[in-house]
Amino acid sequence: MAWHITSVALIAAIPLFYLVIKQRHKRSAIQHIPGPPSNTWLFGHMQELILAHDYGDHEFKWLKTYGPVYRTKGCFGQDRLRVSDPVAMQYVLNSQNFPLSPVLQQATKILAGDNAVLVSDYETHKRLRAGLNNGFNTSAVRSCQSVFERVAQTTISQKLEAVAGSGSPVDICTILGAATLETISEGKDTAVFGYSIARLGDEFLESNLKITSLSASQSSFQIIADAIASYLPPWLLSKAIYLPTPVFKILLRARYLAEQLGKQSIREKKDLLQQGVDVNTDMFGFLLESNKAQELISEDEIVAQTQLLLLAGQDTTANTAAFGFLELAKNKKLQDELRLEIYSFSGIEPRNYDSMPLLNAFIKECLRIYPAVPNADRIATQDLVIPLSESLTARTGEKITHIPVKKGQVVSLGIAAYHRLESRWGKDANVFRPSRWLDGTVRKGDAIGPYANLLTFLGGPHTCLGWRFASVTTLSRYAP
Ligand code: HEM
Repeated sequence: MAWHITSVALIAAIPLFYLVIKQRHKRSAIQHIPGPPSNTWLFGHMQELILAHDYGDHEFKWLKTYGPVYRTKGCFGQDRLRVSDPVAMQYVLNSQNFPLSPVLQQATKILAGDNAVLVSDYETHKRLRAGLNNGFNTSAVRSCQSVFERVAQTTISQKLEAVAGSGSPVDICTILGAATLETISEGKDTAVFGYSIARLGDEFLESNLKITSLSASQSSFQIIADAIASYLPPWLLSKAIYLPTPVFKILLRARYLAEQLGKQSIREKKDLLQQGVDVNTDMFGFLLESNKAQELISEDEIVAQTQLLLLAGQDTTANTAAFGFLELAKNKKLQDELRLEIYSFSGIEPRNYDSMPLLNAFIKECLRIYPAVPNADRIATQDLVIPLSESLTARTGEKITHIPVKKGQVVSLGIAAYHRLESRWGKDANVFRPSRWLDGTVRKGDAIGPYANLLTFLGGPHTCLGWRFASVTTLSRYAP
């Protein structure tokens, strides 16, 4: 009987869904923007973009053909605006009217809770960021440098040395993933939680692994499921959490375990504070201490960031370092030059990474060619006009310098594509060449993104909270 009712409801929902799609797509104001033709109404260009063998297989070709602003098709005939024009990207990133898509917001809330900084409302976000920045500013990150170096020595170098010369293949991604989790979590003179990895426990580590594997998997089914979800009202999306599927069970368990970890870390620090012990030895300690006076962020709000901090920093940092190792494996000369530079500072403590130009150039090039988040989607909450740095020729032949978009328009920020703009990074923008940062090839000037004019850590109010942390961690991976 229940099966019968579900089938009838589903069949009845199909024409309704069709009408909603038709109504929404009638509103597209960007039909005159040129873009690649699409062969399928169901997927549009989504499979080419998301399931490409190497990231950008199609996107970088379209960039060459259509320039930094063009139109692509999403599922069910949706028009999407794809931009890698720096002025347009800056406008979108700094506007309150271009939040994350409701589906992404909901997925983050399910996994990290309603109070996670990424999904908090504008005013709360401003306050939370002011509080959280205390734990991630230059001096807080500098004080973690010894942890980064210790983990690089013990968890990475020693493991690699143990297998060196054996002829056995090494899974560098697993080693770097474990090292990054350890860096974020670890004990005395520590990084984020001040909580040794051994104390996280097997259940936590297993759950963490499931979540990182889930977030790395993509499929055609997932593309369609996300597209359908984007047509559902937010109140219905928020009920998804009650679906008894294995995926939701994994997400909820992971969130629960992260909350327990955050609560325990804060409890232990408060006990230490009462005994007069300095807790300024990790980022949760910094946050607790600095916010006692400023009252920007409550203890519960610090705890609420645990899962996001664990997930946002883990695979992103580990994968960037892994691609760096890949480039080194391909280029023996670069390896030798880097080794020479790093060895020339042996015995000088603490390590001053700023005085190693080639190492810095190498990290910047890894962040440019391999941005861990190569694309970010935003949705217009009202009718808006996006400015462009260069004019483009519409399909009507008209030259335009601004693009009006309607409420609900999806704007995909092509972070990886922006990193391939020849006007900015040189004629050989597609090539991995660290020396471009030293020989004047890279165009200097307008600050876009927090680091080296790159958008790897995005920009605007939601700029990556951990960008300094990630940069210094990555530097220490090569110069332990
Ligand atoms: C190479 C490493 C990393 C990359 C490429 C990266 C990239 C990003 C990007 C692109 C965003 C913006 C997401 C969006 O608005 O759509 C972001 C946000 C964020 N990242 Fe990172 N991230 C890295 C490492 C870290 C680390 C190590 C941490 C913390 C330990 C961290 C914590 C965060 C947080 C909390 C946010 C949300 C900020 C907000 O909404 O105000 N990230 N990151």
